Amino acid sequence: MSEWQWSAVDRYVSDLLVEPDPALDEALRCSESAGLPRIAVSPPQGKMLHLLARIHGARRILEVGTLGGYSTIWLARALPAGGHLVTLELDPGYAAVARENIARAGLEELIDLRVAPALDSLAALAGEGGEPFDLTFIDADKKTTPEYFEAAIGLSRPGAVIVVDNVVRGGALIDPASEDQGAQGMRRFHAQLAARGGLTATTIQTVGAKGYDGFTLVLLDGGSPPASG
Ligand code: SAH
Ligand code: DHB
Ligand code: MG
Repeated sequence: MSEWQWSAVDRYVSDLLVEPDPALDEALRCSESAGLPRIAVSPPQGKMLHLLARIHGARRILEVGTLGGYSTIWLARALPAGGHLVTLELDPGYAAVARENIARAGLEELIDLRVAPALDSLAALAGEGGEPFDLTFIDADKKTTPEYFEAAIGLSRPGAVIVVDNVVRGGALIDPASEDQGAQGMRRFHAQLAARGGLTATTIQTVGAKGYDGFTLVLLDGGSPPASG
């Protein structure tokens, strides 16, 4: 099994199942020509986020780590009329590219892009006391993931979903001596999940165009149970 094969399978899946979306394609092209790192979610992963948001009926979405807005657009495309997405980015240059990509997708009315260290924006959101979020995607600097996760829980409604990207890091997740600060962040995050009550979580390893990594899916307790018939 080679990385070449993982990428080829991603292309096969994308060609057959990920319908072309000019705004998403253009977002990747413009991000690349602006020199942004090529670390956006892959098209099949973007579509998975979109599906999760629709399956969950998310009306309010929070994203930590915007980059050029590729995952942002996938998630915002899942919102119903009146839905809203807040996305947090540190780098003003990346945010400028994201703003253009979001505008080209016709989504600027739905999306609040905030440029600041995410911990500051998360504290500001808590202070504003807005409506809680239904779904959060955490995908910023990996070492701070546990702090983003704790803040996201505080901003979420009971029964909310939280998805965390890049949790496996080529397997470094299980190396206590890893010098990758991101991997250490994901180890702290898993310890936090194991110790914390009030949630149900699992981690899924992935291969694909982005190599060997994985994501964690968390469901917070509470909320309305599914209607029984
Ligand atoms: N979610 C994007 C990819 C995000 S890459 C996608 O899939 O399309 C990670 C992003 O997190 C980068 O843009 C980086 O600038 C941003 N980031 C890093 N540290 C941050 C911080 N402290 N606060 C907010 N954003 C941060
Ligand atoms: C990196 C960040 C990501 O969000 C990702 O999906 C892959 C790599 C990075 O910072 O290297
Ligand atoms: Mg990521």
